[in-house]
Amino acid sequence: MKYVIGVDLGTSAVKLLLVNQAGDVVQEIAKPYPLIQDKTGYSEQDPKVWVDQTVAGLSDLMKDFDQDPKDIEGISFSGQMHGLVLLDEHDEVLRNAILWNDTRTTEQCQQIYDRVGESRLLDITKNPALEGFTLPKLLWVKEHEPNIYAKAHKFVLPKDYLRYKLTGKLQMEYSDAAGTLLLNVSEKSWSKEICYLLDIDVNLCPELIASHDEVGEVTLEIAEKTGLAQTTLVFAGGADNACGAIGSGILEDGKTLCSIGTSGVVLSYESSNDKDFAGKVHYFNHGAPNAYYTMGVTLAAGYSLSWFKEVLAKEESFEKLVAEVGGVPVGSNGLLFTPYLVGERTPHADAAIRASFIGMDGSHERKDFVRAVMEGITFSLNESIEIFRENGKVIDTIVSTGGGTKNEDWLQMQADIFDAKIVKLSSEQGPGMGAAMLAAYGCGWFDSLRKCADEFLHVDKEFLPNEENVSMYKQLFEMYKSVYHSTKQLSEGLLAFRK
Ligand code: XUL
Repeated sequence: MKYVIGVDLGTSAVKLLLVNQAGDVVQEIAKPYPLIQDKTGYSEQDPKVWVDQTVAGLSDLMKDFDQDPKDIEGISFSGQMHGLVLLDEHDEVLRNAILWNDTRTTEQCQQIYDRVGESRLLDITKNPALEGFTLPKLLWVKEHEPNIYAKAHKFVLPKDYLRYKLTGKLQMEYSDAAGTLLLNVSEKSWSKEICYLLDIDVNLCPELIASHDEVGEVTLEIAEKTGLAQTTLVFAGGADNACGAIGSGILEDGKTLCSIGTSGVVLSYESSNDKDFAGKVHYFNHGAPNAYYTMGVTLAAGYSLSWFKEVLAKEESFEKLVAEVGGVPVGSNGLLFTPYLVGERTPHADAAIRASFIGMDGSHERKDFVRAVMEGITFSLNESIEIFRENGKVIDTIVSTGGGTKNEDWLQMQADIFDAKIVKLSSEQGPGMGAAMLAAYGCGWFDSLRKCADEFLHVDKEFLPNEENVSMYKQLFEMYKSVYHSTKQLSEGLLAFRK
């Protein structure tokens, strides 16, 4: 039997999947790492820790692998998007990586609009200037840490840095480069115009490659440290959302994904690069050759639930906490939650907005709050679906992955709020599986990613919308949407009181 490894470099942990030729996950390992949050809005990680934890994970995986290491033919990566990793002339890390969920760069986003122009930026990058993207982070370092910026020789994204440390080859691939705001997304090349207008040396941008491109083999040092064979081929990999799409079979027009992890996304396949969503949703290069996807993001999706547990139900298990919601009616007994714990992206790109519970009543119990949090996350994702539908996309079936599938009440809630059939896959590994599939395709096991998906992915269960619930949720959704506008000014006023 032959195998591939999919590495998913996430925000809270690196997850490794060993997948065989039938698409079975035969081994799964996770190695966690912390977020460094020194100030409100700051979110960083030490790239060296990503590498150490991945190497430790690979070593554990190889210790349990009782076949010839050469049977592991390929390895590829999925990675948290947008994080800025700055390297000096010796390709040494210059500072902690500034991550996708760091929101310190509101001023830099404005500078981008002032100098490039909002519509020109959209023409080139197909996306608006958002705090989470890489370019504003680069401008922040240039302005606030000029000594570090002066030493910068290249910038890369998290999984590109990891791949560099495993192979010695420094490159970036299109699906992740699309989230930097420096890529001309249609032409698949770095935008000299944006670099010029913002006074950024275009040589900071690394060589570009495709997700399934073979980069080389693991270095001797990594082979010795991990037990991998040096013949293991390394493929570029993709952004976590692109890999999540591949790993869920979102590989042709009409296919849509809802993925609830730390952040949550609703993502839809696009075969063309010329649709116009006016920047309301992201428009990125897919990890599948010559394809694209559009996507809306809820910044604090799973994070809202883990925050709730951490702060208000620390001793409880997740399973018990969410199991209680089945007994709570639609609308959580009159409690509404907006999941703006770290600001929001879609449809309100707003770093200052903060979350609310509206309608708290003396009779409410913990389970009402938990259901309200789950409903609020799902309402937020529904705002992205609404944008897709308003732009003529038909969204009637959605593959659901991530934490949102761990509980059947939440899957039914998704069917009722999205008013669409929800499909749960039997093995839903999302981005890690997408990375493994890129390696399988790269190794030549299949002629296309779609053929690989046919072999690897299977439907487990489907959830159909319940008409009565759909109609109640439509009313609640209108109220939910008004909370943003009613709390915007309050959130801005409270900003001065946050540390
Ligand atoms: C997408 C985004 C997040 C991260 C999470 O634009 O910022 O989904 O990719 O890892």
